Amino acid sequence: MTRYALITGASSGIGLAMAEALARRGRSLILVARQRDLLESIAIELNQRFGVEVLFRGCDLGEPLRLSGFLLELEEGERQIDLLVNCAGIGTCGPFLAQDWGQEQDLIELNILALTRLCHALGNTMAVQGGGQILNVASVAAFKPGPWMSSYHASKAYVLHFSEGLREELKKTGVKISVLCPGPTRTEFFRHAHLEVGKLERSKRMMSPEEVALHTVRALAKNRAVIIPGWRNKLLAFTPRLGPRWLTRKISGAINKTYCPR
Ligand SMILES: NC(=O)c1ccc[n+]([C@@H]2O[C@H](COP(=O)([O-])OP(=O)(O)OC[C@H]3O[C@@H](n4cnc5c(N)ncnc54)[C@H](OP(=O)(O)O)[C@@H]3O)[C@@H](O)[C@H]2O)c1
Repeated sequence: MTRYALITGASSGIGLAMAEALARRGRSLILVARQRDLLESIAIELNQRFGVEVLFRGCDLGEPLRLSGFLLELEEGERQIDLLVNCAGIGTCGPFLAQDWGQEQDLIELNILALTRLCHALGNTMAVQGGGQILNVASVAAFKPGPWMSSYHASKAYVLHFSEGLREELKKTGVKISVLCPGPTRTEFFRHAHLEVGKLERSKRMMSPEEVALHTVRALAKNRAVIIPGWRNKLLAFTPRLGPRWLTRKISGAINKTYCPR
C-alpha cells in the first residue's frame, strides 16, 4: 500500500521546498493549500521530475467547515498517511489594537486550530496504524514574546510547546513528533504579513527555503525533537534565555517595530 506524506502550505515557500525535498527522496505526496491551480502545476512538475505520485487538494484550512470536509475525505479515502507536515501559516504585524480582527482570527484559526486539529485527526490514525511522523512548523519567534507581532509570536510559542508535549505523550504509540523553528527565510511570508524586510531579504541572514528543507528532512530522519536550521537561528533561539524577560521583550519589540510599516 502506498504511503503518503501530507504537506500543508505546499503551494509556496518552505512547504513547497519540503515537497520537493521529499519527492526527491521518493516520497508520494498529498499537497494542500488554497491555490488549487498552483498545486496542480506543482504536482505535475514533481511527478515528472521525480516519478512519484503527487495528489493535491485545494482547501482553506482556516475555515473549520472546509477542514472538516477535508478530514472526512481523508478518512473515507483510506490512503495511508505516515508523515504530516503542518507548514501552512500566516503572520500579522503592527499594533494589536489597530489590527483588523478578521486577520487576527485567520491567524489563530490557521496557525493554531487547524494545525492542532490535523495533529488530532492524523495522530489518531497513525497511532492505530502503529506509527507515523508529524512535523509542525513553528519559528524562532516561538522562543520570545514579540511586541508588534504579539499574536504571531504567541501562536508559534503554542506550536513549539504543543509539539514538545505531544512528542512525550505519543512516544509509546510510535507516532514521532518534531517541531521546525526556522529563522528569517526568503519566502512570500513577509509580503503577506505586510512586513517591510528590505535589506534583510538580500542578506545572508535569510536562508533559502531549500536550505531549510534540506536541513529539515535530514533532521527528521534522525527524529530530532526541535529542529533549528543554521547557526544564526540557533543563536536567535538561545539568546532570549540569557537575559531577563523585560529586556527580551524590549529588544524583540524594537526589532519587530523596524519591520512594521509606519
Ligand atoms: N519565512 C519565514 O521567515 C518563516 C520563519 C519562521 C517560520 N515560518 C513559518 O513557515 C511556514 C511557511 O511559511 P512560508 O515562509 O513558507 O510562507 P509562504 O511562502 O507565504 O507560505 C505559506 C503557505 O501557507 C499556505 N496557506 C496560507 N493560508 C492558508 C490557508 N488559510 N489554508 C491553507 N493554506 C494556507 C499558502 O498557500 P495558499 O496561499 O495557496 O493557501 C502557502 O502555501 C509558516 O507557518 C510560517 O509561520 C516562516
